[in-house]
Amino acid sequence: MQLSVIGCGYLGAVHAAAMASLGHQVVGLDVDEGKIAKLSAGEPPFHEPGFEDILKAGLASGNLTFSTDYADVASADVHFIGVGTPQRRDGGGADLTYVDSAIQGLLPHLKEGALIAGKSTVPVGTAARLAEIVRPRGAHLMWNPEFLREGFAVKDTVDPDRLVYGVSPETGDTDVATLDAVYASILERDTPRLVTDYATAELVKVAANSFLATKISFINAMAEIAEVTGADVTQLADAIGHDVRIGRKFLNAGVGFGGGCLPKDIRAFTARAEELGRGESVGFLKQVDEINLRRRQRVVDLVVDAFGGQPFGHRVAVLGLAFKPDSDDIRDSPALDVAVRLKGLGAEVVSYDPQAMETARRAHPQLDYAASLDDALDGAEAVVVVTEWKQFKALDPVATAQKVARPVVFDGRNILDPEAWRAAGWEYTGMGR
Ligand code: UDX
Repeated sequence: MQLSVIGCGYLGAVHAAAMASLGHQVVGLDVDEGKIAKLSAGEPPFHEPGFEDILKAGLASGNLTFSTDYADVASADVHFIGVGTPQRRDGGGADLTYVDSAIQGLLPHLKEGALIAGKSTVPVGTAARLAEIVRPRGAHLMWNPEFLREGFAVKDTVDPDRLVYGVSPETGDTDVATLDAVYASILERDTPRLVTDYATAELVKVAANSFLATKISFINAMAEIAEVTGADVTQLADAIGHDVRIGRKFLNAGVGFGGGCLPKDIRAFTARAEELGRGESVGFLKQVDEINLRRRQRVVDLVVDAFGGQPFGHRVAVLGLAFKPDSDDIRDSPALDVAVRLKGLGAEVVSYDPQAMETARRAHPQLDYAASLDDALDGAEAVVVVTEWKQFKALDPVATAQKVARPVVFDGRNILDPEAWRAAGWEYTGMGR
C-alpha cells in the first residue's frame, strides 16, 4: 500500500521504516530539512537499536523515501500522523501546533477517500475536532495510538502487544478494513486488535501512561518510607511483585521517570480533565508528578550531604544523561536534571553517557562532558549513577575504586550490588534501601 508518515521523530521515523519493512511504499515527511537529509542518507538522527538496519534496507529497496514537501505524499492511501505533542510552555496542557499544521499541510493533497490515522498522543476530543476539518475533503480519520517504548521501538512497532483503532461511526467499517490491510502481517500473528470510538482510543494511551507513571511513583513513595525506616524497597518490590495482580515490572525505585511521554502525558491528562470539569478524577496524577520530581532532588541532597552541605568545587562523576538506557533522548531526563542541579550548586560535575552526550551538549553546553567512562571516574569524589546503562551495571567496584579520589557512590537506579561495592571499600547509598 502507499503510505505516508507525517513527522519523523522517534515515533514517526521508526513507523515509516517499519511500515516499509512490511512491504509498503512509504514516504516519511518532516518540516526539518536537516532531519530529512540525514534520513535520506540512511543516517538515523537519533539512537534507537535496530532502526539503522530497517532504515537502510527500506532506502535500498526503494520502498522508503523522505521529503519535506506535502505534494510528495498526495498518492498515499493512508497518512499516519506521528508528530510531537509536547507540553505547552504556558501550562501543563499538550501543544497541538504540530498536529494542526500536519492536518493543514495534508488538506490540499488528500485524495478522495484517503485515511488519516493519528498516532500522536492527543487530548481526548482532538480526533473528533480534526475529523470535522478533513471530512469536507472526502477524507476519513481514525486514531491509532502508538505504545512503543524507546529502546524497543522497532520491535514494538512490528510486533506490538495490541492495536487500538479509534474510528468514526460513519466510516468505521471501511477504515478498519484499510488499517487491517496495512497491518496484515501483524494481525496474522493474532495480535489483539480493539476497535473503539475516538475518545476511548485517545484515552487508552494516556490511561496506559498514567498507570505506568503511577506504578513508578508508588514504588518511589515506598522508597521514601523505606528511607526513614531502614527497609529495602528493592526487596519490597520483589515481594509484592510476586503477586501476579501487582507484577514486578515498573516497580524499580530510583531517580524517577522522564522522557518525552510519561511526564508530559500525565500533565496533559490533568489539564484536559480540568477542562472537562473532572480535575478531581485524576487529581492523584499531580502527586505522581510531585513524588517523581522529589526523587531527583533526593539524589542531589544526598550528594550535597556527602560534602557536608558544601559541594562547591568538589568533583562529581554523573553517570548517565539519557532518560533511560539504549536511548540518546534527554527530554525531561532525571539524569540530566541531577547533573544540572549539582552544577548549579557549584559542584565540579563531569557527565558521561554512552549515547546521549551530543543531545545533552546541545541542550546544556555549560556542563562538562567526559570523553570516556574512565575519564568521568578519574579523580571523582562522588559517583552518581542515574541511568541504568549496562556499562554502569557492569562496573567492577574494585577496579573503579582505583580510579576515583574518594570511593563514594550514589546508586540512583538501584542497579549496583551494595554488598559487593561495600566490600570493595565504597560508601554505597541506594534509593530507598
Ligand atoms: C513510555 C511507555 O512505556 C510507552 O508504552 C509509551 O508508548 C511511551 O512512553 P518510554 O518513554 O520509552 O515509554 O519509557 P519507559 O520505558 O516507559 O520508561 C519511562 C521512564 O520511567 C524512564 O525514565 C525509566 O527509567 C523510568 N522507570 C521505568 C523507572 O524509573 N522505574 C521503572 O520501574 C520503570
